[in-house]
Amino acid sequence: MKTPIRVAVTGAAGQIGYSLLFRIASGAMFGPDQPVILQLIEVPFEKALKALEGVAMELDDCAFPLLKGMVLTSDPKVGFKDANWALLVGAKPRGPGMERADLLKDNGKIFTAMGEIIDTVAADDARVAVVGNPANTNCMIAASKAKRLPPERFTAMVRLDQNRAQAQLAKKAGTDLTAVKDIYIYGNHSPSMFPAFAHATIGGRPAAEVIGDDAWLRDGFLSTVGKRGAAIIAARGLSSAASAANALVDHVRSLVTPGAVHSVAVKSNGAYGFDPAVWAGLPVRTTTPGSYEILTGYAMDDFAKSKLAATNRELVEERSFVAELIG
Ligand code: NAD
Ligand code: LMR
Repeated sequence: MKTPIRVAVTGAAGQIGYSLLFRIASGAMFGPDQPVILQLIEVPFEKALKALEGVAMELDDCAFPLLKGMVLTSDPKVGFKDANWALLVGAKPRGPGMERADLLKDNGKIFTAMGEIIDTVAADDARVAVVGNPANTNCMIAASKAKRLPPERFTAMVRLDQNRAQAQLAKKAGTDLTAVKDIYIYGNHSPSMFPAFAHATIGGRPAAEVIGDDAWLRDGFLSTVGKRGAAIIAARGLSSAASAANALVDHVRSLVTPGAVHSVAVKSNGAYGFDPAVWAGLPVRTTTPGSYEILTGYAMDDFAKSKLAATNRELVEERSFVAELIG
């Protein structure tokens, strides 16, 4: 039996938390032979902590063989102590009519404190995955507070967007989802994101050739994927939760699986013309568990370049809104 890893989750009693924790404890995130200790962090209010106790009771009641312990706390110094993975979900979700960037002032502050505390108390090999919106910029804020952990340990989630794009392409082509490959997300987790359809294949052929509808790819496809979060909020009255939790399972699972190629928001270091200091969705290949290289070899045509420039502009603008929180 392997040594258990410590997985800290913020916002553990929230909507995403309720779908996520059971998947982690079942082995879906770290594999069927990797025991875990869940370190569950909530805000210091009775209602949230009571709800967290209820979630922990349900986790007990699942009798998951891989779940080797739980810590329930409202103190991030306790919750992130020795954590190997910190999953930063806890933050305000947007409501109808809001853009994710509208959350920046409220949520940004949460990530300064988390970045500092994780850097101080987490394990030496700690990895951080940010889900709370606006995820790219929150991740940049948290990473900017770290002195011990290097920036590449901080990733934000665009995997939900990749999964959405894959599903939409399969639907349009009338094929099985598994036939769709190589669709990666560039830029911000916002409507400006760019799912680079020119590199996607369906059944081994270029997706554009199979679909035969360039106008849809450039317009309907991009806007359906980019505005999917808002469409779910409009329909459900609440932001996506089960699909977000599922995407986080995929995000981490791919990051611990050498050879996996997938979309992750990481410090761009200038790839594809992004500002070097913003966190942009990019295709990466996992090298060793928890580490990755950015894949820089995808050719971009003029249409793609204009989309990359637009999503980069938005990331740079978001950074300017929170300049006082960075560093
Ligand atoms: P929710 O309101 O149901 O749950 C959030 C939980 O976080 C609450 O229980 C709250 O008490 C807790 N929380 C707030 N601040 C905290 C802090 N400082 N420390 C610890 N816990 C804290 O919201 P949700 O639906 O679970 O969504 C959470 C976040 O994830 C939102 O910002 C949402 O917009 C975002 N989200 C991102 C994606 C993505 O693809 N990146 C997808 C879906 C949702
Ligand atoms: C999503 O993409 O579903 C989430 O980021 C929630 C939101 O606000 O859109």
